[in-house]
Amino acid sequence: MQLFNISSRIIVTCSKRLSPYLQQEIIALGFSIERTFQTGVELKGTMEDCIRLNLELRCASQVLFSIKEFKADNAEDIYVTLLQFPWEDIIQKDGYFSITSNVDNPSINNSLYANVKVKDAIVDRFRKQTGSRPDSGPELDKAVIHLYWKEDYAELFVDTSGHTLSKHGYRKIPGKAPMLESLAAATLLATKWDRKSSFINPMCGSGTLAIEAALLATNRKPGLYRSNYSFMHVTGYQESIYEDAIKRIEQQVIDNPSFKIIATDISEDAIHISKVNAGIAGVEELINFEVCDFQQTLIPGNENGIIYFNPEYGDRLGEEEALQITYSLIGDFMKKSCKGYTGYIFTGNLELAKKIGLKPSRRIEFYTSKIDCRLLEYELYSGTKRVEK
Ligand SMILES: C[S@@+](CC[C@H](N)C(=O)[O-])C[C@H]1O[C@@H](n2cnc3c(N)ncnc32)[C@H](O)[C@@H]1O
Repeated sequence: MQLFNISSRIIVTCSKRLSPYLQQEIIALGFSIERTFQTGVELKGTMEDCIRLNLELRCASQVLFSIKEFKADNAEDIYVTLLQFPWEDIIQKDGYFSITSNVDNPSINNSLYANVKVKDAIVDRFRKQTGSRPDSGPELDKAVIHLYWKEDYAELFVDTSGHTLSKHGYRKIPGKAPMLESLAAATLLATKWDRKSSFINPMCGSGTLAIEAALLATNRKPGLYRSNYSFMHVTGYQESIYEDAIKRIEQQVIDNPSFKIIATDISEDAIHISKVNAGIAGVEELINFEVCDFQQTLIPGNENGIIYFNPEYGDRLGEEEALQITYSLIGDFMKKSCKGYTGYIFTGNLELAKKIGLKPSRRIEFYTSKIDCRLLEYELYSGTKRVEK
């Protein structure tokens, strides 16, 4: 099996509720979509396409390349089938591999057992065919094989990403309650921002939203910030393919953008962290950072810009009361000082969101690792009416 010479099913996975935005990105790259589901998108393509998807997608988690589909009622079926598979064509004899899985089969109550069966089949096949075996373990920075097994349907993939793509590589200091980079990027794709007018991000925390906005508007792709992927560790990989893909994304960067990004936070630490992260991303010059209360954020006038808040949600007792006032003040600030803008609040607390006191024009559903979230959109035209609290 020559992995780099075949076309197959590709599944690009993502966090829950990000797939509409992931789909949009994949279509923009010129691919046709076969299917979109809650946590991913399916398409057809080659390993070379997988390299491009790994480097260019902002909303993805993993890019999986299908190598085998089969029926398996129990773990022994997995072992027996995979012992026949030509692993020596995919994993290097002196290499390293790990196994990940997504298992929902009645005969298995611990998916790690399924992983061990896959690993054993690979190792035994290698010993039989070559007299030696590659190393294996939990590290995701070399070759990664992924097992999807639901009821009696099993499918094996080369996970071409390894470590998740949902982190974009520039955030070396996380700060307080940071948004996952892929989620931040997806919420930006959900806004009406035209990438030319101002993007204002009070309460910026570690700067994720402002940095993702700068990356989006200058067309800087996540592949610029990462140098190791699992596809680099499978047989047949040629560095020239990756180098060409990197050159292509470097050439796409827009050098002299016309927009203004303003990011503020009341915490000096947060602004320091944001500046460090923006520096790593190479976009520090594009963002005006300031330490101030959100109500002191300077809003450029006569604009069709975006003002985007991600306030705390208050998961500890006693915090919610203070946050009610904050949310209400955010509503007042947007109404009085941001006329002509579109306002956004990303929150996981819908009761607190009511304290904004403005009627949202859209409520867009998202999800973080723990909670149901909303991106609420407010049209802040002159004369915006408050709703009764
Ligand atoms: C949930 S965090 C934002 C996280 C951010 N989206 C990220 O990805 O890192 C909320 C931020 O609001 C800031 N904050 C709280 N009250 C504020 C206020 N009155 N004015 C400005 N910033 C405030 C906090 O310092 C904190 O950094």
